[in-house]
Amino acid sequence: MRNQEAFQFASGELSQLLRDIALASKILNREINRAGLADVTGLLGSQNVQGEAQQKLDVIADIRFLRALKNGGEVCAIISEEEPEIILTGNNHAKYVVAIDPLDGSSNIDANVSIGTIFSIFRRKTPIGTVPTIKDCIQRGDEQVAAGYILYGSSTILVYTTGKGVNGFTYDNSLGEYFLSHPQMQVNDNGKIFSCNEGNFYDFPQNIQDYLTDCKKKRYAGRYIGSLVGDFHRNLLKGGVYLYPPTLQNPEGKLRLLYECLPLAFIIEQAGGKASDGKQRILEIQPQNLHQRSPLYIGSSTMVDAIEESCKEVAVN
Ligand code: F6P
Repeated sequence: MRNQEAFQFASGELSQLLRDIALASKILNREINRAGLADVTGLLGSQNVQGEAQQKLDVIADIRFLRALKNGGEVCAIISEEEPEIILTGNNHAKYVVAIDPLDGSSNIDANVSIGTIFSIFRRKTPIGTVPTIKDCIQRGDEQVAAGYILYGSSTILVYTTGKGVNGFTYDNSLGEYFLSHPQMQVNDNGKIFSCNEGNFYDFPQNIQDYLTDCKKKRYAGRYIGSLVGDFHRNLLKGGVYLYPPTLQNPEGKLRLLYECLPLAFIIEQAGGKASDGKQRILEIQPQNLHQRSPLYIGSSTMVDAIEESCKEVAVN
């Protein structure tokens, strides 16, 4: 709200939408904290659109966010990791579209390891008052109006950008409110942490194997939680790079472009870092479909530059 005046034509709808997301995250935070007690951990026995096993909390998170976004009234369409098609909210007079991964890293839930929510907000392309279409939902990352994540970790933190820097707000459980704890976050230009699933090492392209070997020769720290939000957040604070390269099993990469790569790419660029798929800026990719995957190299700019450079050399040879 304090920054609203910096935006021409701001009418408070985006601030309201961010509050709706914050509210849903508080409700989900409560469910996550009760996870060991209530019967909400474990598998549901079904699969999501990606063919991955749905955890019970995945489904609960999906319901909580969809309900908050629909009832909040500021969103006309939603893309969720858990749903195959565009979700039409019926709010055809709303001007925003949200892409969301309601609960990322959910395979970590049962083990009490950090998990997160990632979201991206776009302004619709079709005229207000009409039924939104796919055109509203597959926009380039550099058209994002806002993006953020919530990390449910040792404390719960909401980090977001509206294109004027990145701010982090830590949740105070006793007051039920987020407080600005990390104003104007910036990532170091260089770092000494690399984060990737090295179990896939021999399935990575040779240049990525070489890059990782070089990191080890330099005695960099390998840190990998397997929760994208957790790994990203740590590297944002300490400097480092997160890699999810193409593998033999996932030649297009594993992470989803719309609700994993694009929002984090917007945040890292606003914090002074970089995000690439090895060939181009993540924010310049034109998505072709809702659940498209992409390789991702994201973090301190010097490290991402080095990876991008090695990818170019491969392309030339
Ligand atoms: O996209 C889901 C996700 O769980 C991310 O949060 C995480 O970084 C990645 O997949 C882990 O994948 P893997 O188990 O292949 O290392």
